[in-house]
Amino acid sequence: MCWKKALAIAVIFILCIFQAGCSGGFHDRNESAGQEGAANDYIVVGFSQLGAESDWRNENTESMKSSFTEENGYTLIFEDGQQKQANQIRAIRMFIQQEVDYIVLAPVMETGWDTVLQEAKDAGIPVIIVDRKVDVSDEGLFTCWVGSDFELEGKKAAEWLNQYATEKGIESGDIHVVNIQGTKGSSAQIGRTKGLADAARANGWDLMAEVIGDFTRAKGKEVVESLLKQYNNINVVYCENDNEAFGAIEAIEEAGRKAGSNIAGGEIMVISFDGVNEEAIQYMLDGKIICIAECNPLHGPRVQAIIELLEKGGTPEKWQYVDEEIYSVDETVKRLTIEGADYEVTILRQKDKK
Ligand code: AHR
Repeated sequence: MCWKKALAIAVIFILCIFQAGCSGGFHDRNESAGQEGAANDYIVVGFSQLGAESDWRNENTESMKSSFTEENGYTLIFEDGQQKQANQIRAIRMFIQQEVDYIVLAPVMETGWDTVLQEAKDAGIPVIIVDRKVDVSDEGLFTCWVGSDFELEGKKAAEWLNQYATEKGIESGDIHVVNIQGTKGSSAQIGRTKGLADAARANGWDLMAEVIGDFTRAKGKEVVESLLKQYNNINVVYCENDNEAFGAIEAIEEAGRKAGSNIAGGEIMVISFDGVNEEAIQYMLDGKIICIAECNPLHGPRVQAIIELLEKGGTPEKWQYVDEEIYSVDETVKRLTIEGADYEVTILRQKDKK
């Protein structure tokens, strides 16, 4: 072997050692995330979930857990924030200390994330935001976001009500609506509240009250109970999720009123969001919830696809909106047009029961 060839082999050998040292490698990742001795090349994901307030949230957690399994090549570190931003910030700092490969954040509210996301960025850990959005001064603090267009959901529900009222000949001034809002400052609350408030203003509806229902059944029931005592002419209850709607219906029935679509005949119409489970569908088929704007919780495979793309060196789209439907049990409104786009209303019938 000539000396030039020997030198080239030596250089390649040194470069290979250097490359292995710099890349970190999967084993290094697992060791730094507290997985010493892990025999497999797992990708470590720290997921800060905001809580377990609703059926939607539980479906979302389940979707994430069933995507980030060892069979799929992941170690998932799951932290439940219990509705507190401080807990979520603590979880992110812990993920940074553990040197996870990716941080996934489902933020309880939009604001207040700049500092901790800067810390994750400084540590070189990509952050994927899921479900609700973050409102930060620099969008470079996170890699991308995947979730729902909450304002569009709100617009769909409100436009459904508008068309229903028009078809039934109900005067706009005779719509007396209360809004049971979700967690204050969350994207789902902000978007859905705006959807209704804008429509109420444009159509001349009487938007009587906006009260926080925290996306829970218990709070939904509590606030509707008190609103029914305060006002005797409520005829539409717009609940920002199904769990609030379940509670609202209990309150309506306990007050001796009927939840239904015949508002001219004294019924109270309940409109809601999510539509994730059999219970919600049953409420619709029973005619108690009249319209549900879908909110899709199955983000696990979507976040997994984003991580797989990043692993291959790709660049995911920054904003990834999920397509969603609108359901009704009433056949009056079949199609909605919002800002030039058409949305078909899916009419649920008994046979659709899962
Ligand atoms: O952010 C999504 C919303 O959060 C869902 O509509 C609600 O049910 C959940 O708690």
